[in-house]
Amino acid sequence: RGLRKYVDRLPRLPVAVPDRTVYPDADYYELTMRQRPWRFHTDLGATVAWGYWASAPSGGGGPAGLGCLGPILVARRHRPAVVRYRNDLPTTHLLHRSIDPTLWRQVPGSPPDPSGGRHMDDLPRGLTVWNVVHLHGGWNPPQSDGNPGAWFSPQGQHGPLYGSLPGAASNEAIYAYGNQQLGTMLWYHDHAMEITRLNNYAGLSGVYLIRDQDEEALGLPRGRFEIPLVLQDRTFNRDGSLFYPSKGVTPYHPVWSPEFFGDTPIVNGKAYPFLEVQPRRYRLRVLNGSNSRFYHLWFGDGRTRLPFWLIGLGGGLRGSALRLTELLMAPADRMDLVVDFASVPAGGGVTLMNDAPAPYPSGGGGPAIPEIMRFQVTEPLSGRDPTMPPEKLALPPFEPLRAGEGTRWRERVLTETTDRRDNPIHMQINGRFFYEPVDDFVRAGATEVWEYVNTTPDAHPMHVHLVQFHVYNRQRFRADAYKKDYARWLAAGRPADGKPVLAGYLVGGPLPPAPEEQGWRDSFVALPQMVNRIIAAYTPAPSIPGIAGTGTTYPADYIHHCHILEHEDNDMMRPWQLVG
Ligand code: C2O
Ligand code: CU
Repeated sequence: RGLRKYVDRLPRLPVAVPDRTVYPDADYYELTMRQRPWRFHTDLGATVAWGYWASAPSGGGGPAGLGCLGPILVARRHRPAVVRYRNDLPTTHLLHRSIDPTLWRQVPGSPPDPSGGRHMDDLPRGLTVWNVVHLHGGWNPPQSDGNPGAWFSPQGQHGPLYGSLPGAASNEAIYAYGNQQLGTMLWYHDHAMEITRLNNYAGLSGVYLIRDQDEEALGLPRGRFEIPLVLQDRTFNRDGSLFYPSKGVTPYHPVWSPEFFGDTPIVNGKAYPFLEVQPRRYRLRVLNGSNSRFYHLWFGDGRTRLPFWLIGLGGGLRGSALRLTELLMAPADRMDLVVDFASVPAGGGVTLMNDAPAPYPSGGGGPAIPEIMRFQVTEPLSGRDPTMPPEKLALPPFEPLRAGEGTRWRERVLTETTDRRDNPIHMQINGRFFYEPVDDFVRAGATEVWEYVNTTPDAHPMHVHLVQFHVYNRQRFRADAYKKDYARWLAAGRPADGKPVLAGYLVGGPLPPAPEEQGWRDSFVALPQMVNRIIAAYTPAPSIPGIAGTGTTYPADYIHHCHILEHEDNDMMRPWQLVG
């Protein structure tokens, strides 16, 4: 049973209208999480999904939402935005059968996790719906960052790190975003403790654009020629509702799945959509919002691959337009692309194709999704294409960050613990669970290199909150030997003198990042059997003039984690603190 392809139009994500009467110098939004009817494909039954809905601004207009995902928030660089997030979801989770309480407490009858058990026990018993919103890629103080521990429930319960600007009801949190960063496409999405994978899967994510004047002067396609595309994969039950596994692979966590790969692509909430386009240039703002799936994308017209230009990454425009015919997108990646349909014969179609293995790069763990959506070049040209050819774009110059004398280096060892049958029990960073005390204290303003030492067989898209970074380099290492010695050191209780010295395992010199990886970004691919390095300046987020409760106070709680949502929920995520 396959769904018919390209029968549904690509949904246009609604744009939320800000209220400018609440704060003199900031845009104000109210976004409410709701469960609402949604149809993922014409041939699938009507079902329900979760999404964010913007209230009508004072002065009219209906609420903006889609049924899943959320409206686009459009910010201007240097103009703050304040968002009141309200939790009006039902009190029973849409995917409640997929909730695995062994992720945070010992459940009678289940074997305790062999590397120490997990007993945070800070989630009220019987609670199935808890949420928090993180603005992914945003340069924001901790109280507006949406830490997993800052969750709030529809009934008004709160997590241990809950915070809000004054004036929130108990099922709300008010966050302020300074937007003091380069113009780019950010992403707001659910980040609640141990349940992020299910909340995002149910629909809780949306696009956040930061506009800036310099970018607007470049001559890029805009208006209806700029299209945000949110790529996700889903599997559907017969009745058209969302399927997410509720049977795990290991007795330690009987419900949790180590990865999720759906058999059907959805773009902006619709399966296999099509978009009618004109024979001209378009700017595609692509987000990989999938739980686990990587995409290796190209545009095929049936005979050849259409060239396209990469002009920006998650943190903003890159130094030059890079002409490509294919591109890897890991979960959480945003890619800013220019595609020119002018060479496609009238009436022709261009299909967005994908051949990334699942999981990436080892494969064999999930269905392939070779086709994603189609661009039908059926609209007549409405006028001469006034946009700048990508090679001629005057993009801002790119200066790679460099490590120096004072740069601190930190090791982040990625490991996977497996049971006797080789099934994953959990993934970790430095052999720690998420709830264990912080052991990384980063000085405000410091430049640091973080090395993700990947001892596992697959790639992990690592994401750091607060900062935009550069990929610094990668280096091969004797991963199997290191992994054994590291495991032995952990098992011995981490003796101070027994830690394997990474330098002794390195093989060959550092390798520079691929050209398409270069630019400002907040996530990157930590390749297997490699030491993967990033460099960033940990500058505190400034306070917003005129809005009380903004700005950074120390210690400031942030996190870093794998953006495979199944991994971050169990437990490839660690807190770190910015200290003054
Ligand atoms: Cu996109 Cu910590 O998240
Ligand atoms: Cu991972």
